[in-house]
Amino acid sequence: MTDATSPSPERSSDGRDVGLVGLAVMGQNLVLNLAEHGYRVSVYNRTTETTDEFVARQEFGDHIVGYETIEQMVASLSRPRRIILLVKAGVVVDKVIESLTPFLDDGDIIIDGGNSLYTDSTRRQTALADHGIHFVGAGVSGGEEGARNGPSIMPGGASQAWPHIKDMLQAISAKAGPGQDEPCCDWVGPEGAGHYVKMIHNGIEYGDMQVLAEAYALMSAQGQSNSEMATTFDQWNQGRLKSYLVEITSEILAHTDDDGVSTIDVILDAAGQKGTGKWTVISAMELGQPMMLVAEAVGARMVSSFVETRAQAQQLLPGPTDGAGSDLELTLDDIGDAIYAAKLISYAQGFMTLDAASSEFEWNLDLGSVAKLWRAGCIIRAVFLDDIARAYAEQPDLENLLFDPFFVDALSSAVGGLRRTVVAATAAGLAVPAYASALTFYDGFRTARGSANLIQAQRDYFGAHTYERLDKPRGEWFHTDWVGSGGAAVSGSYSA
Ligand code: 6PG
Repeated sequence: MTDATSPSPERSSDGRDVGLVGLAVMGQNLVLNLAEHGYRVSVYNRTTETTDEFVARQEFGDHIVGYETIEQMVASLSRPRRIILLVKAGVVVDKVIESLTPFLDDGDIIIDGGNSLYTDSTRRQTALADHGIHFVGAGVSGGEEGARNGPSIMPGGASQAWPHIKDMLQAISAKAGPGQDEPCCDWVGPEGAGHYVKMIHNGIEYGDMQVLAEAYALMSAQGQSNSEMATTFDQWNQGRLKSYLVEITSEILAHTDDDGVSTIDVILDAAGQKGTGKWTVISAMELGQPMMLVAEAVGARMVSSFVETRAQAQQLLPGPTDGAGSDLELTLDDIGDAIYAAKLISYAQGFMTLDAASSEFEWNLDLGSVAKLWRAGCIIRAVFLDDIARAYAEQPDLENLLFDPFFVDALSSAVGGLRRTVVAATAAGLAVPAYASALTFYDGFRTARGSANLIQAQRDYFGAHTYERLDKPRGEWFHTDWVGSGGAAVSGSYSA
């Protein structure tokens, strides 16, 4: 057992430092992390045997004590009581909160560390404030290993709680920065802001995973063996693509079962999802933000789940029949560029959504600080997040990440490879939804005069929805009598 490296400033001798409800693997690992940092943790789990087994097995002695009832667990804590929930998102969180509140007092703090929907966190903060309880919705990323050794933590909600939990959460979080001493945990904002930022993290995670899966598909189609691909991913992990997901992809591709068979080759190609990617896309759509790469990543997981239907479709539906693109000849540099350019675009889309959410919900999110929280501990950690953090540090009001000089240069050099990759893959009949979506967004975004004038004309034709004109000031709306005598457009106080 190690001594406390960062003891709680409010530690009192009459009570324990923190409670934790939910001893599934994430909960257990977070408890061990807290204990390793010197915190005395009171734990409770619905199934007492799980508590007993865990407490008996752990190596931190009475730094970790189990309780049979929520009431006993709460009574063991010093005030203000700090209780972390790591239970299944959804109705279970409400049930646990309901069972806790009768034993809590003014100023006590509940921290929900699960993957809760941000609107639930906003609702819970408001409801608990009526009881004088400070609710914190904290995104926690990093999986089992992160929970044990340092996750990225994104807390938001009742800001009164922050002085009481800051040292503790920052102590157990991952560290980044030149001296590896900057905690990947900071206050994000009010209401459900913490869970919102975690949700966007997960959406980006879906996008990153799809981008890497497409590279794997293309390299496989070109005849590369799994071990060759493992080497390629490992090499990519030494440079601009250095990231946790590239690193584990290399390890996955190199992995063999006991019988020597490549593990990746025997895994069913049907991806699961628990919903955070879908929530990301729904929210982006609601905010009018085209987070299209993530939308494609969610859609690709859905298509992957149609296992039997895809097998039937393969028999029925032809691919390219003219032989075009049958020899896919992409260089590894092109594919590496495709990964990099697609990621740049995906992150730009993610930060556009965060920016829009910040305005819509009046959260005043610090986008540079969000990028810093993701530099270590979390699933999307990557060197590239330093570049995003730097871009916002240099220009806090940056209109769009893609306008930052680093992004302009990086995209200028990588987008050619992305384009070649999309063209070649498409000609060969191979699906690259994330790459194609990234490229299409890129080309649409950099087109000053697009084709939406036709859409406006169509809307006006069939529904008199009106349109703005290039030869008149913005904000003046016009309607044309398309089927009548034609003639001049009629202006007026139309609503669009
Ligand atoms: C993290 C992850 C984690 C998520 C899993 C599974 O940041 O540690 O995002 O929170 O639950 O990655 O997500 P899906 O089952 O939706 O793929």
